[in-house]
Amino acid sequence: MSVNQEVIVDIDLLKKYDKPGPRYTSYPTAPHFHEGFDDKSWEEELQKSNANESAPDLSLYFHFPFCDTLCLYCGCNVIITRTPAKIDEYIEYLKKEIDMLASYLPKNRTRKVRQFQWGGGTPTYLTADQIRDIMGYIREQFEFSDGIEAGVETDPRELTYDRLQALREMGFNRASMGVQDFDPLVQKTVNRIQPEEMTRRHFNSLRELGYQSLNIDLIYGLPHQTPERFERTVDSIIDISPERIALFNYAHVPWLKPHQNYFKEEWLPTAETKLRIIKMAIDKFTDAGYVFIGMDHFAKPDDELTLAQQERKLYRNFQGYSPRAGLDLYALGMTSISQTQDVYAQNVKEITTYYQRISEGRLPVFKGYELNREDQIRRWVITRLMCDFELHPSEVEEAFDIDFNDYFAEDLPGLEPFIDDDLVVYQGDVIKVNPLGRLLIRNIAMSFDSYLKREKKEETPTYSRTV
Ligand SMILES: C[S@@+](CC[C@H](N)C(=O)[O-])C[C@H]1O[C@@H](n2cnc3c(N)ncnc32)[C@H](O)[C@@H]1O
Ligand code: SF4
Repeated sequence: MSVNQEVIVDIDLLKKYDKPGPRYTSYPTAPHFHEGFDDKSWEEELQKSNANESAPDLSLYFHFPFCDTLCLYCGCNVIITRTPAKIDEYIEYLKKEIDMLASYLPKNRTRKVRQFQWGGGTPTYLTADQIRDIMGYIREQFEFSDGIEAGVETDPRELTYDRLQALREMGFNRASMGVQDFDPLVQKTVNRIQPEEMTRRHFNSLRELGYQSLNIDLIYGLPHQTPERFERTVDSIIDISPERIALFNYAHVPWLKPHQNYFKEEWLPTAETKLRIIKMAIDKFTDAGYVFIGMDHFAKPDDELTLAQQERKLYRNFQGYSPRAGLDLYALGMTSISQTQDVYAQNVKEITTYYQRISEGRLPVFKGYELNREDQIRRWVITRLMCDFELHPSEVEEAFDIDFNDYFAEDLPGLEPFIDDDLVVYQGDVIKVNPLGRLLIRNIAMSFDSYLKREKKEETPTYSRTV
């Protein structure tokens, strides 16, 4: 039974439900991680999970925080620098973190890396030599599987062919490219000048070098965007024809990222304009043959992501949607978040603290979370809803030995407004999100989030808006 991937955009309904909400790249979400879970707790988890003979294979993530200029919308964990020696220094500390982590792995190298990702910041800000150096080191310490999916985030602005070549040589076969918007006024306002011609040139290099499943990142909700102006970007992207497109909702979180205060309120598109932009973009991408995967992702019909969703094998983690489920994620570098079956563990956010911890020979984890049984059940439900847009209560009952309607008796009334508005149906043994409800999947999933119910309304805003 395959998943219905159709999507319908109804602006009035989106307006009605638009409010802050989590993206559910984890459950519980990161604001619930606490410092009672520290490096010692992570050490114990590493020992326990690696002693288990049936431990799953690995997904590895490396965070490279450096960029040469700051994009004023940026919500990522970045360090702006023009000093290559700073990157060398970071690489040396990363190697020490690798040594520490790898020491917990079984000596016979049975836990293979199946998924691999470099993110940032801008990993392609590393020179070709730096890329070969750190990647060579990683490959010595970890066993890579055949058929590994190895992806890297690229920024065309400081990219050179030799860096893409070095990455390819070292085993990368996927790439994602930041574009955001081709409009000159938007680019100037957000401090990111990136001519379309430059983007196309690097995109063609990626193709030439044999990278597969290329992705392009766009953002809607940036200053001065209108449906008419953004349509030109959408048309260009369709013409460039990447296998995947991420169309992120601009997360305006100036209380966390003060540089976003540079944007005057009146420059930002209104909620209504944003909804018209997203409607235009979704209509155009789907008319051009892309499948709306969910949240903010599109993929071509024969892409692994689309096929995994059809077979209900899609999964969600800190990097978004993924076709690989059930791997333990070890995330290295400052701010990175690791995940095993039972635990989330986050590295320190400041580079100086990161260096200090590593110099002391301590794993740089400073907070995390150990899931209890209820968290596990709710994570399962929320993940399936976010990935499949449907939920089969009998599967939850079988996996956790519970009575679904009893267990979620206090949560199910939360679905009623969605059912009344025809966004969701609950019939027989399936809760199904209709094409009209797909864009509101975060809101629908929120019905099963027990932490949200406990949070006080007057607290500082934690999450960005859902649409
Ligand atoms: C960590 S960046 C890596 C790519 C690379 N640094 C670049 O900008 O080309 C990944 C993506 O996050 C997205 N992003 C950054 N800040 C955002 C924000 N405030 N809201 C939504 N998306 C954002 C952008 O689309 C960006 O391409
Ligand atoms: S969007 Fe990318 S390039 Fe721009 S500051 Fe953020 S991480 Fe750096």
